[in-house]
Amino acid sequence: MLLSESIAGLLVRPGGRYVDATVGLGGHAEAILEASAPDGRLIAVDRDPTSLAAARERLARFRDRVTFVAGNYDRFEERADIRPGSLDGILADLGVSSPQLDREERGFSFMRSGPLDMRMDPTQGKPRGNS
Ligand SMILES: C[S@@+](CC[C@H](N)C(=O)[O-])C[C@H]1O[C@@H](n2cnc3c(N)ncnc32)[C@H](O)[C@@H]1O
Repeated sequence: MLLSESIAGLLVRPGGRYVDATVGLGGHAEAILEASAPDGRLIAVDRDPTSLAAARERLARFRDRVTFVAGNYDRFEERADIRPGSLDGILADLGVSSPQLDREERGFSFMRSGPLDMRMDPTQGKPRGNS
């Protein structure tokens, strides 16, 4: 998703409160946090623990301005205890991230051989056919 257009579309402002529902490696989240400085806040959600770990590292400098939430973005408002009407914007950059495609063991790649896994969260469930 185009970075500058996304941030412009969200009308990010200092002090605003935002959700990145698919934080991935944290590129959009970083731009939101920069544009909402000094006191804007972001809730960063991702279902993939590897993506969330990468985002944590990238966004560490924003300290308590960012809250990380592991899991599916459905009902994130319950998990992050968000009151209705308290948000200024939500971004959802749907799809897969480059590391998910690049690592054959994740099973998303058309270019590399690997098990047909395709779980966004490899800690949940088991791919079919693997007993
Ligand atoms: C295209 S990437 C996001 C890239 C991100 N905007 C960035 O700047 O790095 C999509 C992300 O959505 C996550 N994702 C896919 N389905 C999800 C779901 N149902 N709930 C939460 N995250 C999901 C994937 O794990 C992946 O990290």
